[in-house]
Amino acid sequence: MDMERRKFIAGVGAATTLPLLSSCSRGGDDARRPPGVPVSPFGDESTAEEVTAGIDLRGKTVLITGATSGLGLETMRVLALRGAHVIGTGRTLEKAKAACESVEGRTTPIALELERWDTIVSATDLIKTLGMPIDMLICNAGIMALPTLEQVYGLEKQFVVNHLGHFILTNRLLPQVQAAPQGRVVVVSSLGYQWAPAGGIEFDNLDGARDYVPNKMYGQSKLANGLFSLELSRRLREAGSAATSNSVHPGIILTNLGRHFDPWKRTMGRLIGWTFMKTIPEGAATTCYVATADALSGVSGHYFEDCNPVVPMSGKHMDDVVLAQKLWQKSTEIVSEYLS
Ligand SMILES: NC(=O)c1ccc[n+]([C@@H]2O[C@H](COP(=O)([O-])OP(=O)(O)OC[C@H]3O[C@@H](n4cnc5c(N)ncnc54)[C@H](OP(=O)(O)O)[C@@H]3O)[C@@H](O)[C@H]2O)c1
Repeated sequence: MDMERRKFIAGVGAATTLPLLSSCSRGGDDARRPPGVPVSPFGDESTAEEVTAGIDLRGKTVLITGATSGLGLETMRVLALRGAHVIGTGRTLEKAKAACESVEGRTTPIALELERWDTIVSATDLIKTLGMPIDMLICNAGIMALPTLEQVYGLEKQFVVNHLGHFILTNRLLPQVQAAPQGRVVVVSSLGYQWAPAGGIEFDNLDGARDYVPNKMYGQSKLANGLFSLELSRRLREAGSAATSNSVHPGIILTNLGRHFDPWKRTMGRLIGWTFMKTIPEGAATTCYVATADALSGVSGHYFEDCNPVVPMSGKHMDDVVLAQKLWQKSTEIVSEYLS
């Protein structure tokens, strides 16, 4: 009943009260399915537990970033519940430990601060010493809409944390992902990719100094997530690897992601969010589905919403293979000293 009401109100009240969130509140429909990719019986009301029911992940290893809060914590909880060994990263070891201890099953906490690239090097060196393949690498951590321009390494911070940090992490761990029988990289993007600059990625403004707009820069970083996954899938295919890479939009969920929103938006989210937002278990479902579903073995280079593949919006660059290659080259140039 709540769900039906949520769908109804989503189209009415939310659009007028929280335009920022409602603009990306719902996923695709059948008309937007890419050909040849299996469609699941799951949807926007499925939970992470539901989409993984009956899946035995014993013997599998997952690494997830941002396991200390929101969707990452729920994803870790459910994948560990299904038997996986989950390496959960947090910005400090204390946070990662607390998160890992809060869930049942086998977990290993690791400190990883995406805006300090030396910590990514240390974390990946440590993970390599654990000596096992990585079956699922989930790039989940993220920040959103910093109200004023913040820079790290002279670059806009959302681009650094959401994209470049995961670019380094994934490249450093790719041998372990490829060592798994069917390794999967899942990149948590967002329908917010539509807010990216008109040209996609502003390569001449990666420091964000020209015309800083919080959501535009968030959108650029989330577009970068999608393009990174797309180009990674191409490279894996070209290398003849069984590993895959896909990106997901989890839905709109009340988590700490909105910590930088105006207080009125946060209050409205708490008061009426239930009318159009997903719950956290629903929000973690698409990631868990793409990471674990047998039906998706070999499926790569796609974008998912509501536990199903969706053709990205046209004109918003999410499927732009040329831009994806350019982003890969530029990212490599920027972080080259941290890659090997
Ligand atoms: N919630 C939504 O509506 C929504 C919609 C679309 C996409 N997403 C995406 O979903 C992902 C998860 O977001 P969420 O909603 O679960 O948000 P969240 O509750 O704020 O969780 C974000 C996680 O990322 C971590 N993190 C932030 N900055 C980091 C850094 N510099 N280095 C390492 N880790 C860092 C956070 O750690 P701390 O808590 O210690 O800072 C936290 O564990 C994000 O990529 C987000 O863009 C969310």
